[in-house]
Amino acid sequence: MKKKFSVVGTILATAFLVGIAQSALAEGEPDAAKGEKLYQREGCQGCHGADLKGSAAYPNLLTSAKTANIADFTKAVVTEGKGPMAIFKANAKVSAGIADLFAFVSSKKPK
Ligand code: HEC
Repeated sequence: MKKKFSVVGTILATAFLVGIAQSALAEGEPDAAKGEKLYQREGCQGCHGADLKGSAAYPNLLTSAKTANIADFTKAVVTEGKGPMAIFKANAKVSAGIADLFAFVSSKKPK
């Protein structure tokens, strides 16, 4: 009798843990569509352009070496940004959405 209970308990516990793991994964997955909204709403577009190509004064995000990987991208945007980029150190939406922003920028790069 006792043994049967522990088998059922193990199955239930496993199902529960798999459920948690799946929802954590769904939340943690970078979302380019969310990144695009941030890009538009937090002002990136105003300087780097709707096409991400920038201008004489603002770097082209499609060709910049600083958008090649998320570590350099995060540095350029939230930790070591210079000049007008420095304001994003204090922008919680941008910090929280940096993986989404990176997914969006990456999705626009020519393959
Ligand atoms: C007010 C204008 C302005 C806004 C708004 C802005 N940027 Fe920038 N961005 C710049 C300038 C100027 C640089 C070059 C800074 C430097 O030389 O360090 C830059 C640099 C960058 C770089 C590094 C590229 C390189 O090659 O140096 C990235 C990545 C970047 N911006 C992404 C973003 C993202 C993402 C946003 C929105 C969260 C954003 N920027 C908003 C003006 C802006």
